[in-house]
Amino acid sequence: MQFRDLKIQYKALKEEIDAGIAAVIDSSAFILGKPVTELEEKLAAYVGRKYCVTCGNGTDAIQLALMAMDIGPEDVVFVPDYTYFATAGAPAILGATPVFTDIEPDTFNMSPDSLEEQIKKTLAEGKTPKAVIPADLFGQPSDYDRILPIAEKYGLKVIEDGAQGFGGSIRGKRACSFGDISITSFFPAKPLGCYGDGGAVFTDDPQIDRRLRSLRALGKSPEDKYDNREIGINSRLDTLQAAILLPKLKAFSEYELEDVNKVADRYTERLREKYVTPKVLSAFQSSWAQYTILCENETQRTAVREALNRNDIPTMIYYPRCLHQQKAFAGRTFSDADYRHSIDATKRCLSLPIYPYLKEEETDRICEIMLTL
Ligand SMILES: Cc1ncc(COP(=O)(O)O)c(C=O)c1O
Repeated sequence: MQFRDLKIQYKALKEEIDAGIAAVIDSSAFILGKPVTELEEKLAAYVGRKYCVTCGNGTDAIQLALMAMDIGPEDVVFVPDYTYFATAGAPAILGATPVFTDIEPDTFNMSPDSLEEQIKKTLAEGKTPKAVIPADLFGQPSDYDRILPIAEKYGLKVIEDGAQGFGGSIRGKRACSFGDISITSFFPAKPLGCYGDGGAVFTDDPQIDRRLRSLRALGKSPEDKYDNREIGINSRLDTLQAAILLPKLKAFSEYELEDVNKVADRYTERLREKYVTPKVLSAFQSSWAQYTILCENETQRTAVREALNRNDIPTMIYYPRCLHQQKAFAGRTFSDADYRHSIDATKRCLSLPIYPYLKEEETDRICEIMLTL
């Protein structure tokens, strides 16, 4: 069994994917060809934003979003302590200071209370709070009902990191449509993944859309490629990747999202008697980038991993350490007391295989092994 079997999906969509790849090769329009524009339009319509600007990967997408909002040195950007490194790495590379918040113990997403605490601390230190990047971890949107009013109260821009959240929703409003600007990643293992690196930024603001198109092409002017008006980066989605994503987006919206939710429900129904299964808030929908449970402690987690491993069932630890524990931020002083739930999650979390094509008997086999321990 694979942790996320991408070959099964390819077999299901082979004809359309192969035809799309062949058409791109035939056209030789490898950079910003027609499929890129078509994909951008379809993605914007799917998430419910006016504009979508694709780019090289999700990390670049966060960086582009921050650049389009003029966030840089001296600015403080709040990010959850428990997320993939890119959420904090992107502001840091622009010279901004990522300040970490704790997470909610049951959803793994940014804690709104901790966010407000960290904002107050930052203000007391005389620093400038500028933006917040909630990450929709494991596929569930962050609690925007509570985060957006806090951001408004303190004048913060909100950048939704929907790298894992694409397809999730709150009361039908889709992930990648929250806050001022939002991003996603098409890394192969993401809910909507391509066959290499890829990412996208979403906005409703026509000026930000124009600026993003310039920033992803070294700051060029719209009319003249050799008239560079500001410093940008070179980050585009290959036409080949767009051609691969088009049939995948169709399958994702027609049945994959529904199917992956069935897999998650099956796990939860069986595992909740013995493990802390992931909580999806009322009226929220997850796209299940990961199915992550909490074991009782590290000893139980090791035992579960070993038992599954003996049966050729792979598991992952997302994430083994918090951001405030990363060497990259070693020059700063943190108090572990601020990150109680993040630290606890690193010790107890365990992600199980999940993807829309995982069969019922495979989920059942995993659960049986875990329940007999
Ligand atoms: C929460 C989160 N943010 C950002 C990224 C960065 O995306 P990419 O790997 O496409 O650069 C990822 C990808 O793993 C992610 O999980």
